[in-house]
Amino acid sequence: MAVRKSETFPLRSSEDVVRARQLVREWAIQLGFGLVDQTKLVTAASELARNTVNYGTGGTVLLEALNDGNHRGLQLTFSDQGPGILDIELAMKDGYTTGGGLGLGLGGAKRLVNDFEITSRPGEGTQVRVVRWK
Ligand SMILES: Nc1ncnc2c1ncn2[C@@H]1O[C@H](COP(=O)(O)OP(=O)(O)O)[C@@H](O)[C@H]1O
Ligand SMILES: [Mg+2]
Repeated sequence: MAVRKSETFPLRSSEDVVRARQLVREWAIQLGFGLVDQTKLVTAASELARNTVNYGTGGTVLLEALNDGNHRGLQLTFSDQGPGILDIELAMKDGYTTGGGLGLGLGGAKRLVNDFEITSRPGEGTQVRVVRWK
């Protein structure tokens, strides 16, 4: 699996979330994703970026254009050094929120991508890695 291009983008504010959405849209277009896939990626990225800012005390998103043989993909890795998630299974459940949201961000994002991996250590932070393959 080759990484053809990568970029790290900061996520500290809601303005950064808007900029990250635009960046993901641009990368998805460059990779040749159609409008439906672009929107899936942007929607997933938006939810995860917002979590990074709201719950993770800010962090970064790493964008990577992947090439696996004939398959191209866009991988997004959201990282923060916030409080972490004590119970990942619970956090993934639709409707579960500790912040008065809808609790649909993580589950929704998972359904919009092909690969979804979340790792978190209480007190150390959270990493969410997603890939959408073309
Ligand atoms: N990066 C993160 N750091 C710490 N907790 C998180 C993070 N992302 C999500 N969570 C926890 O998982 C819960 C569910 O997230 P989500 O499904 O996006 O719903 P919502 O954002 O509406 O609360 C959040 O309320 C929060 O408790
Ligand atoms: Mg959320």
